[in-house]
Formats: sequence, C-alpha cells, structure tokens
Amino acid sequence: MALQLKNPEEIEKMRLAGRLAAELLDYVTPYVRAGVTTGKLNDLCHAYMVEEQGTTPAPLNYAPPGYKPYPKSICTSVNHQVCHGIPGDRVLKAGDIVNIDVTVIKDGFHGDSSRMFHVGEPSIQGRRLVEVTYECMWRGIREVRPGAQLGDVGSAIQMHAEQHGFSVVREFCGHGIGRKFHEDPQVLHYGRRGTGMKLEPGMTFTIEPMINAGKPAIRELADGWTIVTKDHSLSAQWEHTVLVTSDGYEILTQSAGTPPPPS
Ligand code: MF3
Ligand code: CO
Ligand code: CO
Repeated sequence: MALQLKNPEEIEKMRLAGRLAAELLDYVTPYVRAGVTTGKLNDLCHAYMVEEQGTTPAPLNYAPPGYKPYPKSICTSVNHQVCHGIPGDRVLKAGDIVNIDVTVIKDGFHGDSSRMFHVGEPSIQGRRLVEVTYECMWRGIREVRPGAQLGDVGSAIQMHAEQHGFSVVREFCGHGIGRKFHEDPQVLHYGRRGTGMKLEPGMTFTIEPMINAGKPAIRELADGWTIVTKDHSLSAQWEHTVLVTSDGYEILTQSAGTPPPPS
C-alpha cells in the first residue's frame, strides 16, 4: 500500500497527540529519581494519560505479529537495555541512565516520543553516550526536508555515532506514524546519503536512534520484549515524531519541557 500523506486536519490532530506525548514526559520527569521503581513510573504515566489527558496508552496490549501483547503503558529501558523495557519492580539507583518511551493516542492519532534521564550523577561514559545520542537524533532531524532522502537521515546519524566510537542498533528503526502506531516508511538510523525514499510534505514519522557504547549486537530477553546489548554495554535512545513541511520539518512532540536542540 502506498504511503498516505497527512492532510491539514490530520496534521492538526498529530500536533495535539504529539504535544500530549511530550507533556506526559514533562509530567513524569520529577519522579525519575533514585529509589523509584519503573513500575511506579508506569502507573503514574498511565493515570495521567487516562485521567488527566484523556489519551490512550498505545503500548498497552500492543501486539505486532510475532509478539505477545505488551503488558504495560510505557517502556522503561535502563542502562544496557536498548528499548522496550517492561516496567516492574526494578528500583532506579544513582548512576543509572533510563529511557522513557511514551506513545499516546488522541482522537485516533498517535504521538510517540522518548527521552533519556540520568538518575543522580551520571558516569562520564553515560553522560557522553546520552549527549551524543541526542545529537544523533538532531542530526537526523536536520536532514528532513522535501526532496531529501531517508538515507540522508540514516547516514547523518550513523556518521555522528561512529565518529564518537559508538554503534547504531540495526534491528529497530523509526517509523511512519498516524492512525497506526507503526506505519510505512521504515526510518533506518544508518545508511548512505542519496539513497532511500524521497521525503514529501505531509509525511509524519519518528526518528529514534538507539546508540550503543559498545558493539551494535542486541538480544531479546525471555519476557519477549526487552532488548539488551549483547556485550552489556550501555545504550541510549531519544525519539521525536516529525512532520515534513514545505521547506523542512516540524517537531510534533514538543512541550514546555522539551530539551533545547544541541548547539
Ligand atoms: N514506542 C516504541 C517506538 O518508538 C514502540 C514500543 S512498542 C511497545 O516505536 F509495545 F513496546 F510499547
Ligand atoms: Co517510535
Ligand atoms: Co517510542
């Protein structure tokens, strides 16, 4: 099926869903501290979505082909966990790096965003990995404009990660998003400039690089969801949902607490 461009009404709804996803991350931020469990962060987010925002948590019971239903409302991925960490009894401790990935549905449309958090004082490597991964996401975003190609996005991300001695996870990618959580196209976080799908105004997709401090290889835990680095090295991820505009991009997952772009 050909890729559907969003019309102005749909874009307005994507803006709302995106802002609500970002505001949910703002809301949970002060709770991300040593001593809290990832399950508590999930419960706080779930209640905020359902009771305050009137949004639906897209992850809850999400079951793509080959997966069992995801059991929680957000993803919390700690240290060497790459993505899709299932919230539970784990207690956050000083020095942890944590990704919180939220996806809300509002009026039929999805907003998907994740941020990294330091618990207490980060290690030098943890701080650097989180910083470089943020720059990677932004280098990808800054490639977005009509006529650019998806390979330009992937290449910009890969070059920056590898320049710092880090590696790009290959098995998971950004994705088109709209009425469905995961739509075409696939947005790879590696690749070659001048290759891949050409971007057009009205496309909405995520850019969400997963960057490892060590080797790129990953494995899935027995819970059927949590992805970890094979070599147990630290991993980081940031995610925005973006719209291709007539002359560039618009970040849809923005709120008062969105961290500023890197200098
Ligand atoms: N939010 C993730 C993404 O960025 C997907 C999580 S799927 C889940 O695409 F089921 F684990 F929630
Ligand atoms: Co996503
Ligand atoms: Co996400």
